[in-house]
Amino acid sequence: MIRRSVILGVGSYLPEKCVSNTELAQRVDTTDEWITERSGIRQRYIAADGEKTSDLAIAAVNKALAAAGVDGKDIDLFIVATATPDQTFPATAARVQAAVGRPGVPSFDVQAVCSGFVYALAIADNFIKAGQANKAVVVGAEVFSRILDWQDRTTCVLFGDGAGAIVLGTGEGKGTSDDRGVLSTHLHSDGRHHDMLYVDGGPSTTQTTGFVRMKGKEVFRHAVVNLAQAVEEALEANKVSIDQVDWLVPHQANKRILDSTAQKLGLDPAKVIVTVDQHANTSAASIPLALAHGVSDGRIKKGDLIILEAMGGGFTWGSALVRM
Ligand code: UT7
Repeated sequence: MIRRSVILGVGSYLPEKCVSNTELAQRVDTTDEWITERSGIRQRYIAADGEKTSDLAIAAVNKALAAAGVDGKDIDLFIVATATPDQTFPATAARVQAAVGRPGVPSFDVQAVCSGFVYALAIADNFIKAGQANKAVVVGAEVFSRILDWQDRTTCVLFGDGAGAIVLGTGEGKGTSDDRGVLSTHLHSDGRHHDMLYVDGGPSTTQTTGFVRMKGKEVFRHAVVNLAQAVEEALEANKVSIDQVDWLVPHQANKRILDSTAQKLGLDPAKVIVTVDQHANTSAASIPLALAHGVSDGRIKKGDLIILEAMGGGFTWGSALVRM
């Protein structure tokens, strides 16, 4: 028997304020038609003044803990994936641990932008498999609206705020794809593409936070290739075919990317969890938000085989095959 990390519960949180494309078009030089046609986005949620990434993260974690039936004091690892931390330091994860956890257990942030949740999941899975943690909270939380240049219509219409979280526990498996839990994770990066998607500020350069800059077309081109490869890598590693996958839970950047990836993989589009229309791109939060969405509406059930995939700034990309 081998030790596996198993998803015990999922939770999510969206800020109250929802902004439609039409509302956005009143203050940005854009149209509902352009945004919908090019990205599939119809609306996004925006954090209230003073609402921080940690506030969103804590709300999502509390829901995930309740769904798992686990007390925060029993968690021995907190990881928050975010590119929009409350402060440069300390880690936003330390805020989450202080709010719901037990003093003394490790907490840290992971920075892999839109791939952050897959990276954080891989780290937590390895901690659990190594016996260094028994119960972990993995969060993706972002307040991307604070790093958007609202004068730059090529980026500001594409992103939103939100948080999603999972609680991981331990399970035993036979080492096959029938096991419950995280079956494998696959991480990649290629720093040569740094300037395709970045923030033009930071502590060691401008001493400012900076704004998101993106060469959208180039990112799109890389995304379709890298995401399909990452999914195929996970399938091969577990000797499963795409037909055995119940749900694709992808990073939500653009509906056209989701469609192209599904097509490239030969996956039935009805098996793709889509939230980009409702949430826009919430970076590290988008996968756990989509997962929570699929679980809460009853589509994703215990025993289902799901594949997570993401791609973001760095470039970073990766995948995870999980049996719920
Ligand atoms: O999460 C990390 C990963 N990120 C992504 O995966 C994003 C990947 N990229 C994309 O999703 C798409 O490339 C975009 C949605 C960003 C853009 O779609 P596109 O089809 O590649 O459009 P484009 O950038 O080529 O722009 C087409 C036109 C341009 O006008 P011209 O030069 O053709 O006259 C833009 O100026 O659309 C114009 N445009 C806009 N028009 C109205 C750009 N932004 C807007 C806008 N409203 N918001």
